[in-house]
Amino acid sequence: MSENKSAMTTEPIMQTYNRFPITITKGKGSYVWDDKGEKYLDYSSGIATCNLGHVPDVVKQSVEEQLQNLWHCSNLYHIPQQQSLAQLLVDHSFGDQVFFCNSGAEANEAAIKLARKYASNQNKKEAFEVVTFTNSFHGRTLATLSATGQEKIQHGFDPLMPGFRYLPFNDHEALDQLVQSNTCAVLLELVQGEGGVIPADQEWVNKIVEICKQHNLVLMVDEIQTGMGRTGSLFAYEQYGIEPDVMTLAKGLGSGFPIGAVVAKEHVAKAFGPGTHGSTFGGNPVVTTAGYATLNHMVTSDILPKANELSSYIVEKLQQFVDRNDDLLSIRGKGLLIGIEVKGKAIEYVEKARENHVLILVAGPNVVRILPPLTTTKQEIDHFIEKMEKVFN
Ligand SMILES: Cc1ncc(COP(=O)(O)O)c(C=O)c1O
Repeated sequence: MSENKSAMTTEPIMQTYNRFPITITKGKGSYVWDDKGEKYLDYSSGIATCNLGHVPDVVKQSVEEQLQNLWHCSNLYHIPQQQSLAQLLVDHSFGDQVFFCNSGAEANEAAIKLARKYASNQNKKEAFEVVTFTNSFHGRTLATLSATGQEKIQHGFDPLMPGFRYLPFNDHEALDQLVQSNTCAVLLELVQGEGGVIPADQEWVNKIVEICKQHNLVLMVDEIQTGMGRTGSLFAYEQYGIEPDVMTLAKGLGSGFPIGAVVAKEHVAKAFGPGTHGSTFGGNPVVTTAGYATLNHMVTSDILPKANELSSYIVEKLQQFVDRNDDLLSIRGKGLLIGIEVKGKAIEYVEKARENHVLILVAGPNVVRILPPLTTTKQEIDHFIEKMEKVFN
C-alpha cells in the first residue's frame, strides 16, 4: 500500500450513490435475488431499464449468439447489428436517422450538439440556446446537468455550461418567453420521471410544437425514461399526437445493456457529418444486438396492449389505497410509469416496501415511483398489492 494511502480508506468505490443495504446477484422476469438468497419483486425495473423483465430469453439468446462472434468493432467499419437496430427504430418512429451512444446523458449531449450544429449550419451562429423546463432531468454530464432544471443536481458544479434557459413546466403563459434571438431548440420530457412523475399537459405541448414550427426551432423529446413502452405506447410522443424532430433513448432500449440513441428527422440529422460526433463503444455489436432483440419483441408481440391492461389493473388497485389513506394524495403518470404523491417522505415507503421484499423508487422527496416490468402479470400485481397493504395501510 502506498504510504500516502490511509489505512482507514475502506471503500474503493466513490460514494456517489445512496445504496440500499442489499446486494442483488440474480434476476429473472419480475424478480431479483440477493446474495443471501432472499427474493424480491422488482417493481423498479432497474430504474425503467429492464422493461422486458430481468434476463429476458428473447434478448439473452440473441446476445449469447453475438458473444460467440464479435464483441467490439470500431465505428470506422460497418456494423450490421447497428444498421438493423437503426432501421427498426426508423421504421417504428418519426425518425429518419439514428446516432448510437452508451447512455441517456450521452444521448442528450449528442442531441444538444446536433441542435447547435443544425442552427450553425443555417448560418444562425448566435442561436445556441436550448430551452428546458423546471424539474426536468436530462443527465449528469456537465452539459446535461446544465440542461437539467433542478438546482440540487447542479449544486457545486459551477460554472454551468452556458446556453440553457429553464421555463416553468406546464406553464402556458411562460411559453410567451420561449423564443429569444439565440434560441435554437427545446428539450422536453413528456412525462417528467425523476422530477416527480408529472405528465405534460396536452395543450401546453401543442403550443410548444406550434412555436417550434413557427420559429424553426428543433423540438427534442427526452424519451430516455418514457420510451420503449414504459408509458403504454412505444414512445410517449405518440400519445400526444405530435412529431418531434429529435428523440433521445437509452434505459429500456438495451434491456440492461448500455446503449443510448438519438433518433432524428433527416433535415436535422444531416447536420452531423463525418467527424462531428462519435463514440468508441457507441452502438457496438453486442449492445445493438440487445437493442434489436428488445425493440423487435416490443413491435412484434402483444406486450404493449397487455402492458396497458396491466396499467389499468394496477392503477385501479393503487387508487383504493389512495382513497383509504389520507397520507396518500394522488396517483399520476402514464402506462407503467406510476407515481403516488405522498404527504410524508417517499423514501420511508420505499424502505418499508423493501423490508417487505418489494423494490420500488422515489421520484423527488414526496413521490413514490412504481415501474413494473411491462412483462409482469396480474398475479404478480396481486402479490405486489398484498405486500403494499403493509406499506400503505
Ligand atoms: C429523462 C431522463 N433523461 C436522461 C437520463 C440520464 O440517463 P443516464 O443515467 O443513462 O445517463 C435519465 C436517467 O434517469 C432520465 O430519466
